[in-house]
Amino acid sequence: MSPASGIGSPRQSLHGQWSSRLAFILAVTGSAVGLGNVWRFPYIVGDNGGGAFVLVYLACVLAIGLPLMMSEILVGRRGRRNPVMAMSLLAQEEGSSRHWGLVGLMGVLAGFIILSFYSVIAGWSVAYVFASGAGRFSGADAAQVGSLFEGLTSSWATIGFWHTLFMVMTVMVVARGVEKGLERAVRILVPALVGIMLILLIYAITSGGFGDGVRFLFQPDFSQLSGASVLVALGQAFFTLSLGMGAIMAYGAYLPEGTSIGSTAITVVIADTAIAILAGLVIFPIVFANGLETAQGPGLIFLTLPLAFGNMTGGLVFGTLFFILLTFAAWTSAIGLIEPAVAWMVERLKLTRAQAAVSAGGVIWLLGFATVFSFNLLADVQFGAGTIFDNADYLTNNLMLPLGGLFITLFAGWVLSARVTRDELALAGEGRYRLWRFLTRWVAPLAVVAVFLNAIGLLRLT
Ligand code: TRP
Repeated sequence: MSPASGIGSPRQSLHGQWSSRLAFILAVTGSAVGLGNVWRFPYIVGDNGGGAFVLVYLACVLAIGLPLMMSEILVGRRGRRNPVMAMSLLAQEEGSSRHWGLVGLMGVLAGFIILSFYSVIAGWSVAYVFASGAGRFSGADAAQVGSLFEGLTSSWATIGFWHTLFMVMTVMVVARGVEKGLERAVRILVPALVGIMLILLIYAITSGGFGDGVRFLFQPDFSQLSGASVLVALGQAFFTLSLGMGAIMAYGAYLPEGTSIGSTAITVVIADTAIAILAGLVIFPIVFANGLETAQGPGLIFLTLPLAFGNMTGGLVFGTLFFILLTFAAWTSAIGLIEPAVAWMVERLKLTRAQAAVSAGGVIWLLGFATVFSFNLLADVQFGAGTIFDNADYLTNNLMLPLGGLFITLFAGWVLSARVTRDELALAGEGRYRLWRFLTRWVAPLAVVAVFLNAIGLLRLT
């Protein structure tokens, strides 16, 4: 009996497959490595007090992120269709409710909202390619870099333009179904991005602020940690690994049988985490060396990195290249964010890929203007988590992704039978399988619930 023959004959895939395990790893890495590592990780670490937050983040990545990534891949590969239909089908095969598909639907929605602000930030990265290329960082001090950023974000037309450009780039690739080319590029782009970050690291080490930066990142001060920031750390673990919304599930649907899910997930998690830490090691020394605040919010990398590029040899070339590579990293992630929606629209609503990509992209593009205006026209509209952008970010990263992740982990741990998951994961050794199942059934769900309760103050852990 073939491993996918839950209901009789081997399951027909609704779409093609990755050519190899490497192709799959590249695709998942391309989705995971993006603004989450380079832009969001440093800025929320800065906003949440440093070391203790980083420690909680790492614990969430290991105990919840890694097993959940395995669960998403296995559900996708077993179901062989988009997340909505995969979860609903597998649930029915196990004699459970087809309404599990709603979890996939929430993921589609989360992807829409995330991409709407993600594209705006990616647009800033595109703008900085040109700013760097034009030599606008050369010899700049903190005040000049600040006014450059202010000048960009205060004009809704300017950032709206870059946001539009980035959405067009994303929709074009998805509509034409040529993601494979971009994924192959990940093989060169991610190492190149790491290369420039290592050059930046050398600059950071010699900047005079390295000791302070390292202490800020790695010396935990638990008095800085609130229940609210534990939830932010959990949300960042989901966001940076692209988990909790079915994106990895959508990718898993294309994974050939017989590739090891465990080692694939470990590879991606290590690479993603290493790049985030590297970003932190670059940013915070620059912050301290220039006497800046750690809590600068979403502008942090745009206010610090130009100082490094503007004052190092070859900075014009490295700076321009860096923002080009960051844009590429964001691009491969943006494609992953829209993929669950497009796959679902194609397989369920029977649209063509182009129709699905253009209509989903159009809605997301419009929605993006709420974020565009959050930095200028509507900057004074503050409620809940802050600006409209802050609320979109909070709603998705701190609520929808952890909630989606909770349901997916419950699904993989409790709805799917051990026979199915053991067979699909095919881990080397029963001990590893037991560990995965224990983390999936108990640790991950209880941790997510505890973090939620703690954040709303019902449970006082901190
Ligand atoms: N992981 C991406 C990043 O760090 C962002 C992201 C979140 C994502 N969810 C996703 C990307 C789903 C692709 C698919 O930048």
